[in-house]
Amino acid sequence: MSTPYQAHPSAVIDQPCVIGSGTRIWHFSHVCEHAVIGANCNLGQNVMVAPGVRLGSNVKVQNNVSIYSGTIVEDDVFLGPSCVLTNVSNPRSQVVRRSLYEQTLIRRGASVGANATVVCGVTLGRYCLIAAGAVVTRDVPDYVLVSGVPARSRGYVSRHGHPLRRPVDGIYTCPESGLRYSVDSSGRMRCLDLDEESPLPDEMAKGTQPYRAFNPQP
Ligand SMILES: CC(C)(COP(=O)(O)OP(=O)(O)OC[C@H]1O[C@@H](n2cnc3c(N)ncnc32)[C@H](O)[C@@H]1OP(=O)(O)O)[C@@H](O)C(=O)NCCC(=O)NCCS
Repeated sequence: MSTPYQAHPSAVIDQPCVIGSGTRIWHFSHVCEHAVIGANCNLGQNVMVAPGVRLGSNVKVQNNVSIYSGTIVEDDVFLGPSCVLTNVSNPRSQVVRRSLYEQTLIRRGASVGANATVVCGVTLGRYCLIAAGAVVTRDVPDYVLVSGVPARSRGYVSRHGHPLRRPVDGIYTCPESGLRYSVDSSGRMRCLDLDEESPLPDEMAKGTQPYRAFNPQP
């Protein structure tokens, strides 16, 4: 029977589950029962989506990522290679806590860097960026870059993933897209030119130059 998604023959897809059209699932990956995966996602090699996990659309999961029960992943999220998600704060082999999984909410457009660890119970805000190797133990606000162990804020990043520095009259401008940002009266960074819930327009959805072209090393 044909499916609206593509899965490599080595992938294991348990039923029932829902997988959206255009989604691709690569070698040795495992989608467990009752998982719901949106359209146009990419699950790399050796990815596990646990029972009941929900992934939005256009989610990109790099190789060797396990998405455990209790995780909610919204649209346009990027999970970097070998990043680690968790679902029990105090794991004990002798104490069964299968009904007590703690939630991790990864909001629209957030990116988790390679080999970062997200301790459960946190929310990663919209368009935040978790640096490679960080250990996240607290909520991360929208558009904030965190790095280190434990992860600490290093400022703001744009929807294109560039540091937002040197505001002019309170307005930060992304060097790649020209999109403008400012901190609103409640202290949250917001894009002034696009709705937070809208996808990027097609003409802005392709990178133009590498990161260092916009952010030279000092
Ligand atoms: C965080 C990141 C975006 C770089 O940000 P940046 O602001 O340009 O960083 P810079 O190179 O200017 O470095 C600024 C400082 O942060 C440090 N730093 C950079 N990346 C870091 C990281 N991942 N963890 C801890 N510290 C980091 C630098 O050593 C530097 O420290 P110093 O001021 O003491 O010298 C990048 O390092 C990163 O982690 N990207 C994610 C890559 C990834 O995982 N991709 C997955 C897809 S393949």
